[in-house]
Amino acid sequence: MASFTNTVLFRIILVLVSLSDSALFHVQCLSFGINYGQIANNLPPPSQVAGLLQSLNVSRVKLYDADPNVLQAFSNSEVDFIIALGNELLPNMTDPLKAQNWIQQHVTPHLPQTKISSILVGNEILGGTDTRLMSYLLIAMQSVYAALVNLGLSKTIVVTSAHSLNILGNSYPPSAGTFREDLAQYIKPILDFHSQTNAPFLVNVYPYFAYKGSPDEVSLEYVLFQPNSGMNDSGTNLHYDNMLDAQIDAVYAAMKVMGHTDIDVRISETGWPSKGDEDEAGATPENAGIYNGNLLRKIVEKKGTPAKPDVPIDTYVFALFNEDMKPGPASERNYGLFYPNGTRVYDMGDVGAAGPDGADGYLPQFTFSSAHDINALSIFNFLIFLIVYLLWE
Ligand SMILES: *[C@@H]1O[C@H](CO)[C@@H](O)[C@H](O)[C@H]1NC(C)=O
Ligand SMILES: *[C@@H]1O[C@H](CO)[C@@H](O)[C@H](O)[C@H]1NC(C)=O
Ligand SMILES: *[C@@H]1O[C@H](CO)[C@@H](O)[C@H](O)[C@H]1NC(C)=O
Ligand SMILES: *[C@@H]1O[C@H](CO)[C@@H](O)[C@H](O)[C@H]1NC(C)=O
Repeated sequence: MASFTNTVLFRIILVLVSLSDSALFHVQCLSFGINYGQIANNLPPPSQVAGLLQSLNVSRVKLYDADPNVLQAFSNSEVDFIIALGNELLPNMTDPLKAQNWIQQHVTPHLPQTKISSILVGNEILGGTDTRLMSYLLIAMQSVYAALVNLGLSKTIVVTSAHSLNILGNSYPPSAGTFREDLAQYIKPILDFHSQTNAPFLVNVYPYFAYKGSPDEVSLEYVLFQPNSGMNDSGTNLHYDNMLDAQIDAVYAAMKVMGHTDIDVRISETGWPSKGDEDEAGATPENAGIYNGNLLRKIVEKKGTPAKPDVPIDTYVFALFNEDMKPGPASERNYGLFYPNGTRVYDMGDVGAAGPDGADGYLPQFTFSSAHDINALSIFNFLIFLIVYLLWE
């Protein structure tokens, strides 16, 4: 009897906690985006992902393609999409006719019921090794833009690309940031294009890579947004207490060297792996929880960087799911906030990213079986147990 009562009480407490958790969560106004990568063989169907994102109140999603199943599943939702033209399509996209055909096949059919606000042309091309693709990048962006103009869509959809920080020649101190000299010939006209079309410059930023590369030299606190002595930028006297800010300001500085102070920098990817190979220092669930928890708190507080304190950095977290088919070291398959079954990989609430009243803040627990109405299910559970409990008494 005692143990039954305990079980009932336990269930009641659990239900109450889960109710208050989701209630508190909804007070938050989250404005981060998320990368929805699909290099996996075990992901849930897009309709279930729509439920998951809704429970997170995430309303901005970045895809690596223009998957019609996803775009269809999110029709009539509030979710806003960045879709992408993969690197393999770049050669064709230099042909304006093919660019227009692609848009008519992959974009137009989903408008306006699915919100698409950006087309990302190529991923990390300038930071890579394929100089042929580098020389195609601007032309492809221009022909995609021209096609949008033709179709009357250029006012609602921007054309951009995503770059790795490999494109920087110098990033320290941030005010001395420059682009690599060998890339200047590509970057300069691309920046002019951004300026003319009022498109943001997207970068994939991973303080984790710096830490993994030199765990003995790079301070873990500095990369995880934890209290630390930070660094002073001798060029500006600005103080930096985290690497992400320093990296973004280095990009702003590099653009300024090329004559541009008129382009916004946004983060198309950032994240931290929860697991890695033995030689991948720092890839743990604890660190991933701290990094993403503190990142989300920074986003919620709408903090900018030291050089641009009033410009919150628009950020897409990498990534929604662990992706089991990604090649490379183990960390590559473990950036997800969620397992494919919808369970959180780690907690971000216990690590300095708590919501109001210290509640388990940003990511509610979620399982696909109860995807459709968590609260109704919880209340139902609660009532059943209450009735059983009262009858037993
Ligand atoms: C979701 O977030 C938006 C802003 O990002 C906020 O206005 C809205 O109230 C939130 N909705 C819920 C249900 O929390
Ligand atoms: C490029 O265009 C050609 C001709 O239209 C087509 O056959 C080919 O499949 C396209 N390439 C890709 C990667 O889609
Ligand atoms: C940065 O400058 C401040 C104020 O001048 C100083 O107190 C602090 O020790 C400096 N920090 C570092 C890491 O040099
Ligand atoms: C979801 O998947 C993870 C990883 O495989 C597993 O540890 C967890 O128990 C699963 N959760 C549920 C509710 O099945």
